[in-house]
Amino acid sequence: LQKGRAVSRHAGAGQQRFNVRGEHLNAWCVIPGSPFAGDLVLLPNGPEDPPPAVRFAHLDVAEIDAVSALFVSASNPQHANRLSVRMAVETPRGEVLAQQRLELDCDQRAPLTLRFPAGRTPLRLALEVAFAHFEGGPVFGSVRMRYLAAYADNELMRLFNAAGSDKGSEVYWGEGVPHLYALAYEPLLEPLRNEQFDLLEIGLDTASQHTGAPTDAPSLRAWREFFPHARLHGYDINDFGFLGMPDARTFQGDQSDPDDLSRFLEAHDNPAFRIIIDDGSHVPAHQQTSLAHLFEHLTPGGLYLIEDISWQPFEQSPTTGEVLRGFLEHGRIESPFIAAPQARRLEETIDSVSIHRPNDSEVAVIRKRST
Ligand SMILES: C[S@@+](CC[C@H](N)C(=O)[O-])C[C@H]1O[C@@H](n2cnc3c(N)ncnc32)[C@H](O)[C@@H]1O
Repeated sequence: LQKGRAVSRHAGAGQQRFNVRGEHLNAWCVIPGSPFAGDLVLLPNGPEDPPPAVRFAHLDVAEIDAVSALFVSASNPQHANRLSVRMAVETPRGEVLAQQRLELDCDQRAPLTLRFPAGRTPLRLALEVAFAHFEGGPVFGSVRMRYLAAYADNELMRLFNAAGSDKGSEVYWGEGVPHLYALAYEPLLEPLRNEQFDLLEIGLDTASQHTGAPTDAPSLRAWREFFPHARLHGYDINDFGFLGMPDARTFQGDQSDPDDLSRFLEAHDNPAFRIIIDDGSHVPAHQQTSLAHLFEHLTPGGLYLIEDISWQPFEQSPTTGEVLRGFLEHGRIESPFIAAPQARRLEETIDSVSIHRPNDSEVAVIRKRST
């Protein structure tokens, strides 16, 4: 475990696998590492029989004090039973440090997080699936664990989870996984908690990308709690005028349009931001246009965070990760979306760039020079 990085198992986790030992398994259970590839799937035994149970190999990382998992109850074939998932963290002798139950109807999905005291290593995770309500067969239903992460918890993680942002350990979109960015952010941002400053976030609501109409701004709500004295500014292509959050203003604009960005700065009285977070479209061209335009509006020593810097959805342009790695190697900002004078200005005013990968996705932390 590197500091600030989760131990996780999911489709994007490359070669990482956990070894698992099962008891009371039936023929339909799927165990990773067995001849069956894929996620772990447990199908309950009959209501009178002991439930299928698995124990994961020991994890020996002293800092770990939380585990989050995502469970999906299969939608096909349909059934009327309610399944119960019990997840526990145990010592090797079977002492339970934390446990919780989750009930799932057919076609439901939900996260489960366990917190426990750090330093009781080695630890193991135990899981079993039974019926919470048995309506009958012949189809019983099954539960798939599609994601598991063990990590050192922090308050920002809990705020992101509670608000419904995928910067935490529980919320994810589509076939993705939670990003756990809080592991990288908390050590950077904690020292600023009680200070008064301006914070800008670009991109406010993932749900709106699926429903079309925004309904909430989860990460802004987490920032509101984490930084009680900060003035918050939200920027999004959609209208968040409905938000009504104390000391928070939103602006509707396109982050790839320098005119929109200028109108925003003017409308918000040209603030100097201590923190800017780009969680907007994630398109490299947009990220680089926003960086070129907004970096000079950071305070000296300010932080510019860009989430998901290695995604390349549309065009053959350098990713923001490539541009920033180029800067780390040669001290030059080279991007087709950043004009030469702006690039030279960035080179002169960037103090440091660090790239973090707490889980599945990279985030860049760019610090501005303090003089
Ligand atoms: C990943 S979501 C933001 C999630 C939010 N920050 C959170 O943590 O819960 C991306 C947001 O970016 C907005 N967006 C997409 N393209 C944009 C663009 N070109 N300019 C500004 N915002 C954009 C979407 O409307 C959406 O609200």
